[in-house]
Amino acid sequence: MRVTICIGSACHLKGSREIIQRLQELVKEHGVSDKVDLNGAFCTGNCVNGVCVTVDGELFSLKPETTDDFFAKEILGRL
Ligand code: FES
Repeated sequence: MRVTICIGSACHLKGSREIIQRLQELVKEHGVSDKVDLNGAFCTGNCVNGVCVTVDGELFSLKPETTDDFFAKEILGRL
C-alpha cells in the first residue's frame, strides 16, 4: 500500500511533519513496514483541507490529532 503525505509549505504549516513522524511510529509499532510504503509528496492543490494524504491514490485530509484514527481505519483497516 502506498501512502503519500504532502510536504508542501501549506501542509507543512498544518503539521505534516508530525503526521509523518506519527505514521512512521505507528507503522513500526504494528510491524507493517513491509506492507505500508510511506512517501512524501509535493503540493497537489488541496491545501485548504489540511494535510493532504493519499492511500493508493485516494485523497484524505488529516490533522495531527486525527492521525491515529486515520491509521487504524484507512491503513490497518485495509491491510
Ligand atoms: S501544500 Fe499540501 S496540498 Fe498543497
